[in-house]
Amino acid sequence: MAAPARSRSRGEGAQVRATDIDESLLERYAGTANVRVARLDVFDRPAIRALVRDAAATLDVLFNCAGIVHNGSTLDASDDDLDLALRLNVRAQLWTIQSALPGMLAAASGSIINMASIASSIKGLPNRCVYGISKAAVIGLTKAVAADYVKQGIRCNALCPGTVDTPSLGERIRAYDDPVAARRRLRRAPADGPARAGRGDRADGGLPGERRVEVRDRAGVLRRRRG
Ligand SMILES: NC(=O)c1ccc[n+]([C@@H]2O[C@H](COP(=O)([O-])OP(=O)(O)OC[C@H]3O[C@@H](n4cnc5c(N)ncnc54)[C@H](O)[C@@H]3O)[C@@H](O)[C@H]2O)c1
Repeated sequence: MAAPARSRSRGEGAQVRATDIDESLLERYAGTANVRVARLDVFDRPAIRALVRDAAATLDVLFNCAGIVHNGSTLDASDDDLDLALRLNVRAQLWTIQSALPGMLAAASGSIINMASIASSIKGLPNRCVYGISKAAVIGLTKAVAADYVKQGIRCNALCPGTVDTPSLGERIRAYDDPVAARRRLRRAPADGPARAGRGDRADGGLPGERRVEVRDRAGVLRRRRG
């Protein structure tokens, strides 16, 4: 999910600093103008601070995208999974924001974008207990930052996508008893993010076993049901 954002920013002339804990993912940017890469473990707070310090005199945009998706119901949720999800999906975002904010406040300008999910406080999805808790917290964090600093020129927003076909989705599909059927089902049910779902119920891409939802357009007209 980070790659398209980096491409878009690069296309708009931004100087992009792309980071990931997995250096192999960064190799694709070798020799790309406007993009500098750095391995970063977002559990390493001093490393985050050092990278933000080094990135630019002013960081215009911070995009928090690193995350993990846990599969599992409420009864499956273990303390270890919850700790990991909260540390990676939530606390790491707080840490990068705390590192970037002083520079943004000094410039009275900045945009912070946090990756949340439709599976969050927006919508409960089956087998996404730990994940949904963590992404609901991301929305809470986003609102807190916006409330604290919007009057000082800082915008903070969250992205809440439905299902997007990424390598990590492939891993989750492979966890199903019948991965082929799971992927076929997913293809028939394209992701409905907030923009398509409009007012009312918002829909996810609909992995197998996930419940049917009603999708209404902005006028409240029922457009379709799917599972
Ligand atoms: N794919 C979807 O359907 C979907 C839907 C909604 C939201 N999201 C969110 O989008 C974001 C990206 O997900 P994705 O689907 O591209 O999955 P992904 O697994 O491809 O991306 C997650 C990235 O986080 C990196 N990462 C993990 N631990 C890290 C650490 N300690 N430090 C730095 N980087 C670390 C991984 O190396 C990986 O590149 C996540 O926050 C995810 O929750 C995904």
